This record gives sequence, C-alpha cells and structure tokens, in this order.
Amino acid sequence: MSGVFEVNHPLISCHLTRLRDKTTPPAEFRQYVRRLATLLAYEATKDLHVADEQVATPLTTTTGSKLGQRIGLVPILRAGLGMVEPVIDLIPTAEVWHLGLYRDEATAEPVEYYSKLPQQHPVDVALVLDPMLATGGSAVAAMTSLQRWGVQQVKLLSVIAAREGIEAVNTAFPNAQIYVCKIDPQLNDHKFIVPGLGDAGDRTFNTKA
Ligand code: PRP
Repeated sequence: MSGVFEVNHPLISCHLTRLRDKTTPPAEFRQYVRRLATLLAYEATKDLHVADEQVATPLTTTTGSKLGQRIGLVPILRAGLGMVEPVIDLIPTAEVWHLGLYRDEATAEPVEYYSKLPQQHPVDVALVLDPMLATGGSAVAAMTSLQRWGVQQVKLLSVIAAREGIEAVNTAFPNAQIYVCKIDPQLNDHKFIVPGLGDAGDRTFNTKA
C-alpha cells in the first residue's frame, strides 16, 4: 500500500516488545512510548522542506538549514499526549493542536469531545499522534477535521496498527502518509488490536478500571 511505512529497526522491535508486555508498569510504558515516538518521528520527517540559513560558527560563516514549513502536532486525546513531548523536542517550533476523541465502547465509533482548530491559516504539515490505530475510526475523524481546516499534508504516526485500520485510513485519505512501528494482523470481537498492547490510554495514565 503506497504511503504506508512500517518502520523496521532493531530498537523499535525491542522497545515495542516491552510496550506489549502486560507487566510493564505505566512509568516505563510512558518511556517506551516516548522512545518509539522519537524513532517514528525521525522517519516521518525525512521529507520536510528546509530553506537555506546562513550561520556564523566560531570560525567562519556557512550555509545551514531551517524548516521551511509550518508544522502542527495533532495529538488525539488521551493516549496521543504521550507522543507530544518527544516529537516537539525534535521540532521545537511545532504548534500543538489537540483533538479529543474517544471510542464508544459499545459501537467502537469515535466521539469527538474537544477541538479548537481555527477556521483559517492551516499548518503546512500535520503530524497526527496516536499510539493506536485499531478500526481507524478515530484517525479518520481527526484527519477529516484537518482536511476541513485546509491542511495540505497529513502524516499519521501510530505505534501500533491493525491492518483494518490502515486500510480504512488509506481508503479515506489515499494521499496521507501512515508511519507505524508494527502492523498487527487482526482486531478481536471488541475491536482491540491483537496481539496489540492493551489500551494505551489506560496504560499511559494508570487508569485501568
Ligand atoms: C484509543 C486509541 C485511539 C483509538 C483507536 O483511544 O488511543 O485513539 O482508541 O481506535 P480506533 O482506530 O478504532 O478508532 P480510546 O478511545 O481508548 O481513548 P483514550 O485515548 O482516551 O483511552
């Protein structure tokens, strides 16, 4: 599928294993999400545009680079919050636009509960951050909001994805790029990714009922 990147890297594989482990406590779970988000963002930002910038070193002047595009980070609450800090560390000038969506437990349909996207002046590139892409409903809803805002380039960064979710996003937004650490084969009857890693929001925020 064009535009879908499953990033193969030994560190990703090792960190993801610890993330999947049900005995990994929330404090460590958050660290692994941060590490994986950094590695994903490194890959996902390889084609950002840069402009030349002159820089004076202690010895001489040389030509360097600066970002030539406005970058927006769009974490999907709640679990996406865990990916903001590592990515904004890499792109300190990025803007952060939060979207609140939760999945209705009975229908697995996304319900929007927070959005303050403005009407005008969209960012050039939006990085949608959410550790999990299950049915794809939440990502498609978020990307629909970004399309309405007028964002030209959208990249979805998810730690783990189900094939079904990838297909749903790719069908709805064939021009968007999807970066994931791993595509898992299936969803169970409750629309959870299998083998997956459980509920990333609950494991991040230590709210398992
Ligand atoms: C999870 C996850 C995604 C969504 C994925 O969030 O973080 O946002 O479900 O499922 P989908 O692809 O089928 O839409 P959840 O609804 O559990 O909310 P939370 O982050 O607040 O826990």
